Amino acid sequence: MQGMYHQGHWEPGEGSAMFADGRADRPPPPGSMPTRMGDAAAVSSGHGGHDEVLARMAAENATRLPPVTPVLLQRGQDRYAIYCLPCHSALGDGDGPVVRRGFPAPPSYHQQRLRDAPDRHFYDVISQGYGIMPSYADRVDPQDRWAIVAYVRALQLSQHAPVAELPPAVQAKLAASGAKR
Ligand code: HEC
Repeated sequence: MQGMYHQGHWEPGEGSAMFADGRADRPPPPGSMPTRMGDAAAVSSGHGGHDEVLARMAAENATRLPPVTPVLLQRGQDRYAIYCLPCHSALGDGDGPVVRRGFPAPPSYHQQRLRDAPDRHFYDVISQGYGIMPSYADRVDPQDRWAIVAYVRALQLSQHAPVAELPPAVQAKLAASGAKR
């Protein structure tokens, strides 16, 4: 048994004169699917790596948000700040720091068309890009894309919450301040 572990082998990323491209790694054949992914993939039993593949596939095929939890929103806020805020701004109105330096402004998330757009539209824009916006598929995992979509929905609500759905204490404060509804 031990002989199998101790035989000559290449490590990932190592060079080799055996192949024309000088790499020991072979590119996967077109259309092949990984059976293990993520941090748990390197563990010998690999079950966790397989669960990760299934979770990604489920996220890729989902048409709407997973159940929204504080953890999901927190993760979405965190990823949004890294990958979206530079152009779309902290508020989502399309006036981020990169836009202020000359990049074309994206549309505000607070316009009616994007309020009405299905969850999956946001997921697809992150995955495929949109017009001059590049795809973020290589940097944002499918599960994280949904976390970002959940956070964008929260941003939209933050600017367009029906007064009647606010907690009574907040409604009272609003009335006292004389704010316009
Ligand atoms: C480099 C700047 C930039 C970054 C970063 C960026 N976007 Fe965009 N985004 C744009 C621009 C510009 C447009 C408008 C593109 C067009 O209409 O050609 C846009 C459009 C959109 C739209 C509107 C699509 C529609 O139906 O009109 C959504 C939704 C969106 N982005 C979401 C995101 C999310 C989520 C992220 C983060 C993962 C992100 N964007 C990161 C620049 C950016």
